[in-house]
Amino acid sequence: MLSPTAIALTCVVAQASAACDRTNLQGIVAAYIQAHASGSPKDLPLAKNFTYTENEVATNITRSILSQAITVDLKRSLVDTTECSTFTEITAATNKHPYVIDTRILVSDGSITAIQAVVADTGDWIFNATSHLSWSKSENWEAIPVSKQDKRSTIKAAGDAYLDSWADGKVKAPYGTPCARLEGGAYTGSKNTSSNTCHMPEFPKPFAGALNRRYVIDEEIGAVGILNNFPFIDATRPEGTPSTNLLRVEEGKIRYIHETTICATKNCGRKIQSSRSTGQCNLT
Ligand SMILES: *[C@@H]1O[C@H](CO)[C@@H](O)[C@H](O)[C@H]1NC(C)=O
Ligand SMILES: *[C@@H]1O[C@H](CO)[C@@H](O)[C@H](O)[C@H]1NC(C)=O
Ligand SMILES: *[C@@H]1O[C@H](CO)[C@@H](O)[C@H](O)[C@H]1NC(C)=O
Ligand SMILES: *[C@@H]1O[C@H](CO)[C@@H](O)[C@H](O)[C@H]1NC(C)=O
Repeated sequence: MLSPTAIALTCVVAQASAACDRTNLQGIVAAYIQAHASGSPKDLPLAKNFTYTENEVATNITRSILSQAITVDLKRSLVDTTECSTFTEITAATNKHPYVIDTRILVSDGSITAIQAVVADTGDWIFNATSHLSWSKSENWEAIPVSKQDKRSTIKAAGDAYLDSWADGKVKAPYGTPCARLEGGAYTGSKNTSSNTCHMPEFPKPFAGALNRRYVIDEEIGAVGILNNFPFIDATRPEGTPSTNLLRVEEGKIRYIHETTICATKNCGRKIQSSRSTGQCNLT
């Protein structure tokens, strides 16, 4: 016979997992998208102890990006049924004020306990929402057939290897062929790319690496979204500027990378030499 305590525990566990299945998390994502579209967070299921940050700064949600009505042209979402969280990338290119917004949402018992939004617009790292929309749309982020899905640990390891390789060129990221990276609005591939254009050389020393990584992993989409603090790129923020990397992994290999990075000064104080033919950007 189960003791009353055991019954209570069983109920708590059942509730927690029910609130964290794909359907429930997709409901949270839908409410989040709706809040952007309507410009009001009032219908979001917020927990009492809920926190909101925008580009790593604690912000009152009533004065946040969620209180502006935004035309969402494209959205890509991951749901993490293990950690009970979601990651959504919104491209708002036709909005009067264009944005690319990457957001991690933490959920507990069906309520949102944290929203961490990285909100990019003009002046952020090689920002161009029109270009972002066009390239992102050309990619395939459909669900991966069950027989070909990677384990959570494989997807996470691919994301970590990519970020680790910036600080240590000896780390081999499992780039696929093809592989393409969308950084701000710059794309390393082409519409029918057949090569790996994702390779990132080691950054000049000293480089601390992408810090404070916060993951959302979705085995069905084969993807990981990683919020992090990225040092080096913006000299005014040696502790790291808010950044996200969103990676699609297919059979253990990186297929797409999206990077969204916030700059304190226009374009992180850097001049860009962009080659039209390759979209590759050289830092100067
Ligand atoms: C908020 O409350 C939930 C339970 O409702 C708990 O899981 C979570 O850890 C709390 N968060 C903070 C920041 O206290
Ligand atoms: C956020 O702003 C609203 C509206 O001004 C106010 O009612 C609320 O108390 C604020 N919340 C916090 C946590 O400061
Ligand atoms: C943004 O990208 C679009 C499409 O590639 C291009 O037409 C436009 O000139 C770019 N805008 C800026 C400000 O570079
Ligand atoms: C796609 O790739 C094929 C083969 O490499 C090439 O012939 C074709 O021109 C490419 N199309 C575009 C739109 O780049």
